[in-house]
Amino acid sequence: MHYPNKAIMLVVTSMLYLSGFAGGAQAGPVAKADAQPTKLAAVQQPEANAKEPAANTQHGQVLFKENCEVCHQEEGRGKPGLAPSLTNKELLSAASDRFLLETIRDGRSPTAMPSFGAYMKDNDIKDIIAYLRSFHKTALIGDRVDNDRPAMGDPRLGKRWFTQVCAGCHGVNGGGYAEAGSGSGTAIGTSGFLSKASDGFIRYIIMNGRSNTPMRGFYGPDGLASLTHQEIDDIISYLRIIQN
Ligand code: HEC
Ligand code: HEC
Repeated sequence: MHYPNKAIMLVVTSMLYLSGFAGGAQAGPVAKADAQPTKLAAVQQPEANAKEPAANTQHGQVLFKENCEVCHQEEGRGKPGLAPSLTNKELLSAASDRFLLETIRDGRSPTAMPSFGAYMKDNDIKDIIAYLRSFHKTALIGDRVDNDRPAMGDPRLGKRWFTQVCAGCHGVNGGGYAEAGSGSGTAIGTSGFLSKASDGFIRYIIMNGRSNTPMRGFYGPDGLASLTHQEIDDIISYLRIIQN
């Protein structure tokens, strides 16, 4: 398989690094767009401070356009080999706010997904998450998924299943787009992913896949490879030891 997008990705990445993600930090003017006249604001201040401010979806959209769209595409629909979809309902349903916040704040080393923590406050990132979540009115099960039981598999068997079923897209070492011989899959063998993804989250995605992306569900008779619960746990246990 051949992925001409890699060249584009490198150019885009270096351009972004050179520009220091200009724009990401200038959240101020946008956030203030709906400011009240001074008198009113003064009256409303104490109440507004009493609880955490609600996330501002519109502000999130502006930040997304400025900082993310270049890779994740319009409305986060993604482009295999360049950046994953951020709108599919399985991701939005199973990813906890914690997973999304940490991924956006810290990036996913060593992939092209940059860290935004130095340019954005947590509240800016929460606005982006609110914008992403506005794509789907889907049940949010991320916290439950994160608390699912840990995988108890055999990594040697997991290696076999992974090599047979997953490596063609994710790379033999789970290195993702950057790994020679891999395809459209993301870097699920890297510490940048594994340090943030719970076993429950990985299990959910393997079972259910991701709509509108090449990632399919692999569980049971209807799944692409009819994997069993045990085989899925074997794969997760393998990922936990190849971490690179
Ligand atoms: C230079 C390109 C680039 C930019 C800019 C970028 N990303 Fe990413 N992002 C990526 C890539 C590539 C990945 C997948 C990395 C991998 O292979 O695991 C990713 C992964 C992610 C993930 C994890 C998705 C998943 O499937 O687990 C989230 C969430 C994310 N990005 C959000 C953002 C947000 C929000 C912004 C803007 C603030 C942003 N990204 C900007 C390239 C980019
Ligand atoms: C046909 C190619 C393909 C195959 C085969 C495949 N994947 Fe994927 N996988 C993808 C793509 C593409 C994505 C990112 C989807 C998106 O854009 O959100 C993905 C995403 C994932 C994710 C979420 C990662 C993240 O960044 O959040 C996990 C976990 C995953 N795959 C595990 C597996 C496992 C385990 C197997 C083998 C049982 C497998 N995949 C087989 C293409 C594939």
